[in-house]
Parts: sequence; C-alpha cells; structure tokens
Amino acid sequence: MERLSTTYLGLTLKNPIIIGSSPLTSSLDKLKKCEDSGAGAVVVKSIFEEQIESDAKRMVANSDEYLVHADAHDFVTQSSRNYYMDAYLSLIEKATDALDIPVIASINCISKGAWVDYVGRLADVGADALELNQFILPSDPSINQEHVLDSYFDVVKSARSQSKFPLAIKMSSQFTALANVAKTFDRFGVDGLVFFNRFYQPDINIKTLSIKPSVVLSGPNDYYQSLQWTALLSAYLNCDICASTGIHTPDTLVKLLLSGAKAVQICSAVMLHGHQIIKTMLDGLITWMDEHGAENFIDFRGKLAHKRMDDPKHWERAQYMKSLNVEF
Ligand SMILES: Cc1cc2nc3c(=O)[nH]c(=O)nc-3n(C[C@H](O)[C@H](O)[C@H](O)COP(=O)(O)O)c2cc1C
Repeated sequence: MERLSTTYLGLTLKNPIIIGSSPLTSSLDKLKKCEDSGAGAVVVKSIFEEQIESDAKRMVANSDEYLVHADAHDFVTQSSRNYYMDAYLSLIEKATDALDIPVIASINCISKGAWVDYVGRLADVGADALELNQFILPSDPSINQEHVLDSYFDVVKSARSQSKFPLAIKMSSQFTALANVAKTFDRFGVDGLVFFNRFYQPDINIKTLSIKPSVVLSGPNDYYQSLQWTALLSAYLNCDICASTGIHTPDTLVKLLLSGAKAVQICSAVMLHGHQIIKTMLDGLITWMDEHGAENFIDFRGKLAHKRMDDPKHWERAQYMKSLNVEF
C-alpha cells in the first residue's frame, strides 16, 4: 500500500482517507475501529467551545452560593472547564498511545475563548495535529463583514501563536471572498485547510409546529463544491487542502485527488455503509491507478487543478449556460 502514502499537515499517512470528526471518532474503541478498518488518520470528535465555557458559566449562574464567594466562583468556573478539557486530553493521550495512525484533535469554536490556552496541551499529550472547526453564523445585521472576518482571523492567529504543531482550519464555504480568506489563513501559517464543513441546519415539523434537525448525513452528490474549490485553490496555496463532504465512492475520491487534495475526510459514507467502505474506496483507488498507469500519488495528484490546466476556465463557471448541452 506504499503507493497510497500521502503527506498532510507534514504528517505521513499510509493512505489519503481520514475519518472526520463525528460520533465515529468519539471514543478510544471507535478510533481503534477506524484504524483497524484501514483509515489513514482520524480526527477525534470535537470538543466545543461551549463545553469549555458555557457549562462553567451556567453552573455558576445557577447557584447563589457561588455569587457570595468570589474564590468559589473562580474555582468552579475553572474546574468545569478542566472537567471537559481533561477528559478530552485524556482521550487524545490514550488514542495516540494506542493507534499507529495520526490522531488529530478537533476544537469547535466561535471565538477566541479559553480553549486557546489548551492548544499547547493538546500537543503535549501527543496529538499529531489540531483541526479548528470555526463557524460564526452572521445572523446579526448590525455586525458587518469586516467584524466577522476579524473574528475569524483573530481565532486563527491566536491558535497559530500558541503552538507550532500542525494546525488545520475546517472552513465554511460561505465567505464572500472565499479565495482571499483561504489565502489569508495560508499567510498566517496554517498547515492545512479542510474544504468544507457541513452544517447542522434546522427544519420545521409542520405537524407539531416545532423546529427539528434537518438531514445530517451527506449524499453522494454533495461533493461538487469541495471539488471546485479544491481545484481552484490547491495549487495556489502553500498549505495542504483536505477535501470533505459528500465523498462516498472511489470515483469521488479519485476526483478530489485529481483536483489537488492531499487527503480527504469521510463520515457519512461510513455511517451509511459501515467501515468496510474505507477498503472499498482504497481498492477502487488502486484499480483506477492501475488502469491509468499511475504508480503512486505524485503521478496524478493535482493533475486537474486549475493552475495546471491549459484551459482552466471550466473550473471558473458559476452559471449553467454553455456548460450543459441540453436542448429546451
Ligand atoms: C452526526 C455528525 C456529527 C458531527 N460532529 C462533528 C464535530 O463534532 N466536529 C466537526 O468538526 N465536524 C463534525 N461533523 C461534520 C463531519 O466531520 C463532516 O465534516 C461532515 O459530515 C461532512 O462529511 P461527510 O459528507 O463525509 O459526512 C459531524 C457530522 C455528523 C454527521
């Protein structure tokens, strides 16, 4: 399987399939199962900024006793933070001891909160890298674009300054100037960008007139946005791109690699088809490489990236006209 070996965030992966942060990676047993099923790396289920911050605040707010004892207030706030973070650090430590493949920690954050102080500790307990999943829902009309962007940039700069260990940003695709934001993260010295995060989006139950979660899992046609942006940017950035969302088949894996991804992350495909999908995808990749005379990755990775093509304009199309040969 040497021919499938790739590098991502400066780490060597035996193959390009990473199991993304999700319930599939929330315990030591589950992480081990991913490794045993052939994954090249794992991103551990995220710890959320809210877990680190809000529970401590809520605990304090709900108890009158803490209000009269300033020291107790500080103690409880810190203990609650430590409770979640210590459990997370312990999982990372056990996982890095037990697994031979890279273990990437994940923090899901909105702002530059207390979690920033823990970045170095993740490296200390052996995490091979950190993936920051940052998303701000810009729903407040009084907050302008510069303010939102500054919040993103602040977080990334802070995380970068805490530690030199490999850092990836799991990005939203919802930026007005996506290429510029990606380039700015790249300039801040991040090692990788994950294209893209998939968000929880609420729906309405019209029987009960209540809010319900919408479909959480991706489908096999949900990869186009990741494909286009990976192709558009991969050869222009210093950092690596890891493609994510809607990668369900060997063919899609091949496409993302052709567009310049160093690795891919999968979740929904494993949840829908079981862990054997990892082997199915890797076998399919080898078969494709054999059919196309590709001895290893370097032979074909990024071959269809925007920068490498004689006629890259197809990647730039945003409208359907001319791209579809359909008579109406
Ligand atoms: C049930 C579920 C839980 C998830 N939890 C996290 C999480 O804690 N942190 C994170 O960064 N992404 C989380 N994700 C997003 C996945 O890592 C991934 O980015 C997304 O599902 C798109 O990949 P896919 O199309 O292969 O599923 C979750 C996804 C699912 C379905």
